[in-house]
Amino acid sequence: MCLLLAVMMTVVVVTSLAHALHPPSNVETIDPLSLHLAGEFVENNLGAAVEADGSVTVRLLAQQYSFVPDCLILPADTPVKFRITSPDVIHGFLLVGSNVNTMVVPGFVAEVRTRFAAVGDFTMPCHEFCGLAHHDMWAHIEVVPKDQFSQLRPTQRRRCATH
Ligand code: CUA
Repeated sequence: MCLLLAVMMTVVVVTSLAHALHPPSNVETIDPLSLHLAGEFVENNLGAAVEADGSVTVRLLAQQYSFVPDCLILPADTPVKFRITSPDVIHGFLLVGSNVNTMVVPGFVAEVRTRFAAVGDFTMPCHEFCGLAHHDMWAHIEVVPKDQFSQLRPTQRRRCATH
């Protein structure tokens, strides 16, 4: 029994350190009824923003049945912080093949940090059943080299050329 516990604790510690896997812990509330009208999640504030320290903050809405924006271009080898919330029901936010995986609960802002080691494409399916068109709710992320990203204007970071 003790051996089993020790093995399980080791797995938890090793995955959290090696793969940066951890349960979501950001308890930050927001009014889901007014988030379209004012504040951080108004439409022209969504997408990727470059911070003074060079890191990137991505603001997203998950709603029935789409992510806004539904396509993002992000830089490789740069700290990226996702901030995402929902105006309607619970959705899921997952980047297949990365450590990004959280629920998006209306009334709360989910926050996940990651860093993309290499360029590539990520699919972003909603993984919480959210209604009849749940299966149609997905988006993608294109990770490009850092210097290519820095040449894009904010509106261009929301458009994937290949999709
Ligand atoms: Cu949104 Cu399933």
